[in-house]
Amino acid sequence: MSGQLQIDGPGLLARIQALGRIGALAGGGVCRLALSEEDRRGRDQLVAWMRELELEVSIDRIGNIVGTLAGRRDLAPVMMGSHIDTVATGGLYDGALGVLAGLEVVAALRRAGITPERPVQVAAFTNEEGSRFAPDMMGSLVYQGDLPLEAALDTVGIDGTSVRANLERIGYAGPAPVGVGRPHAYLELHVEQGPVLEHEGLEVGAVTGVQGICWTEFTVSGVSNHAGTTPMRLRHDAGAVFVEIARFVRTLTQRYGAGQLGTVGHCRLHPNLVNVIPAEAIFTVDLRNTDKLALDGAEAELLAFAAEAAAQEGVEITHRSLARFDPVAFAPALVDLVERKAQGLGRSVRRLPSGAGHDAQIMARLCPAAMIFVPSVGGLSHNPAEYTKDADLITGAQILLEALFDLSAA
Ligand code: GLV
Ligand code: MN
Ligand code: MN
Repeated sequence: MSGQLQIDGPGLLARIQALGRIGALAGGGVCRLALSEEDRRGRDQLVAWMRELELEVSIDRIGNIVGTLAGRRDLAPVMMGSHIDTVATGGLYDGALGVLAGLEVVAALRRAGITPERPVQVAAFTNEEGSRFAPDMMGSLVYQGDLPLEAALDTVGIDGTSVRANLERIGYAGPAPVGVGRPHAYLELHVEQGPVLEHEGLEVGAVTGVQGICWTEFTVSGVSNHAGTTPMRLRHDAGAVFVEIARFVRTLTQRYGAGQLGTVGHCRLHPNLVNVIPAEAIFTVDLRNTDKLALDGAEAELLAFAAEAAAQEGVEITHRSLARFDPVAFAPALVDLVERKAQGLGRSVRRLPSGAGHDAQIMARLCPAAMIFVPSVGGLSHNPAEYTKDADLITGAQILLEALFDLSAA
């Protein structure tokens, strides 16, 4: 089959570069935060490409964009998807690859004159990254049904504005209802965003699942006072408690072993001045583990330590959950399919879990789902220098095409 159905490699690379120019950062990389002006321009480009491919385009009420190629029969569709929003210091590939490769799969079917048995869809889900509006995977969660539409729309982001207001502002509060489609299967091509494939000299990852993710935001409230006159023993220093908790996260990961990840990625001190004891510290902790029990244990320890550290300093502490996802296992038959397709193309492949969150882990609640990884040079992602070699991008898209073709014929 690979003889007849071929991804247009230069076409895929050109689309990745073109989308990467929207929100391009000086010096490389891209900033297309969810529902920003740059996201709007990226969406407009994507919709234009979908229309060129004569896909039927639907925008739903949370702004998910789905392009549909009709099948011979009115069956549940096979969906390919990912996202086109990025973190503020993102690369060209995270998310964009899966969506744009989906377009190239459709283009390849069209060139070959093939109308699949089942409809084929390409989806770009709203706000996968979650760095502006938590939780991440917001659009797929609403699509799948576990996050109520109204709760998602009411979410207020880091700049104090809501999902609803921004969706309306960029013109992507669509008319299509959410939660209507249950695909026959879901496939997502993505860059690995980690070092494993490159380190082992492998070309493809058949992703077995996604590790559990727990995001918590803490707010510590102490008392501002003079840095020069307030004895150490009389302070109620929100900043000092923040530092202790951040340090604890690091030692916690050491105790739990290599499977436990912990990141303090965001912090804000108030008033944030050299000679003022901080009155407030707001910060986030991202914990991840493939083992649910270990993740639950790490989270419980973190909360207990935070309460104790605050009590010792005589400050208030509150926390709220920004995101909580249990580890997910992908459909074994689809993981096998990805592995077989990679082998069929003569590519070296291994199975591995995903460290990053993906829309596929949400779609896996709705239908059989799987992912294809291609190597990230230097293991870098969420970094403007994120890079995957052209040949690997094209290999990934070819595997997506071949796996999609089988699934859409079934
Ligand atoms: C999403 O990109 C995440 O894993 O944080
Ligand atoms: Mn992604
Ligand atoms: Mn990402």
